Amino acid sequence: HHHLLFATTEGVEAVVDTGHFHPEAIVWQHLADYRAEGGYRLLADCRGGGVTVEALMETLERSNLRGLGGAGFPTFKKWTFVRQEPGPRYCAINADEGEPGTFKDRVYLERSPHRFLEGALVSAWAVEAEALYIYLRDEYPGLHRVLHEAIGELEAAGLVPQGYVVLRRGAGAYICGEESAMIESLEGKPGKPRNRPPYVAQKGLFDRPTLVNNVETVYWIPEVWEKGAEWFAEQGRHGRKGPRSFSVSGRVKRPGVHLAPAGITLEELIDEYCGGMAEGHRLAGYLPGGASGGILPASKADIPLDFDTLQEHGGFIGSAAVIVLSDQDDLKAVATNLLAFFADESCGQCTPCRVGTEKMLTLLERDEWRVDELERLAQVMMDASICGLGQAAPNPVLGLLKDFRGELASQNVIIKG
Ligand code: NAI
Ligand code: SF4
Repeated sequence: HHHLLFATTEGVEAVVDTGHFHPEAIVWQHLADYRAEGGYRLLADCRGGGVTVEALMETLERSNLRGLGGAGFPTFKKWTFVRQEPGPRYCAINADEGEPGTFKDRVYLERSPHRFLEGALVSAWAVEAEALYIYLRDEYPGLHRVLHEAIGELEAAGLVPQGYVVLRRGAGAYICGEESAMIESLEGKPGKPRNRPPYVAQKGLFDRPTLVNNVETVYWIPEVWEKGAEWFAEQGRHGRKGPRSFSVSGRVKRPGVHLAPAGITLEELIDEYCGGMAEGHRLAGYLPGGASGGILPASKADIPLDFDTLQEHGGFIGSAAVIVLSDQDDLKAVATNLLAFFADESCGQCTPCRVGTEKMLTLLERDEWRVDELERLAQVMMDASICGLGQAAPNPVLGLLKDFRGELASQNVIIKG
């Protein structure tokens, strides 16, 4: 069943209902239409002095807009950090969207590249960036053409100086979505994460202070300004704030990108947005944040899904890539599939991750899983890996050992210890 689990952004093409399949057929909103509905007014007001950076930051703070690449870092705070540093500064947008099961950025870029570009340009303006870089994953070739054309429209209309927006392609490496690896890659080097501190806000692209934001984070900025901080914040549920774009895949009737309240529970998400479980499938568990965010049992389908709400359960929401597993999914295959992915995608620069992911995969392939051995290895990987890949790689295994022992036993995995 693991094709479902590793529904990559291409793999789920059929289930993301954007109404097309071939890149050539992408129907996107061109500049004239975007401007006709008020597009680029915010950018013009920012540049013209009608909107101050302070006012915009205050609105972003009240709206609770957080980093939607997965870490949830408050957006206004990032702006503050970068603005504190001396110029020249840069802005770099992460459009690498590599987390398995995540495909929300793609949907927004396909529908409204100009709304995204306006948000990105406003962010670049806010930190007085010398240039705006966009790092797009190579698996989105159709989008490369769309963005290239949309940037061309902006240049032709005199809305950005020629060459100010630089569109770069990734080359298929998951690790290049890690912000410092992305920066290395933008500089033309192999994508290997840097140690931090220093954070990219201090020392990023070409060692200059750099604002790095995910596509969706900046995509919301024009609308948050237009409709107000309260409009955005009020969309949460169970005490949480804002909307979330859940990329749902797996055993549900209607997978796809569902814009739902932050803090919605899994059972609410499945019932209200996904048409229920797929015919003949009973919920067994779910991955709340793609391959990295751990794995939770069906008994935890009633907890609010948001930043800061899943840690005590051993998971995190990350990019809100919800992968739904049923009683018909083979949990050992899930675990080995995930670890094989991490082992493949490890950049290899640090031993706990390079050797740890391989070693863990070998341990999981055995008929007998030794809890002490797996937990000890997991601890080393979490403590000693340089970046999030190695630190998060053991999450699904720890989740299975914590909450799925009965199911594993019934699927003939012998748990020792
Ligand atoms: P992080 O929490 O370490 O950092 C988040 C952001 O805040 C970064 O931009 C970082 O530079 C900034 N930051 C944090 N503390 C700072 C400080 N003191 N000063 C200045 N800046 C500071 O998280 P990280 O490692 O950047 O991202 C992890 C997340 O990425 C996970 O939630 C994971 O789910 C997600 N992810 C998303 C993928 C996708 O395709 N969207 C792919 C892989 C992971
Ligand atoms: Fe590379 Fe893994 Fe170390 Fe990250 S944790 S720097 S991916 S080897």
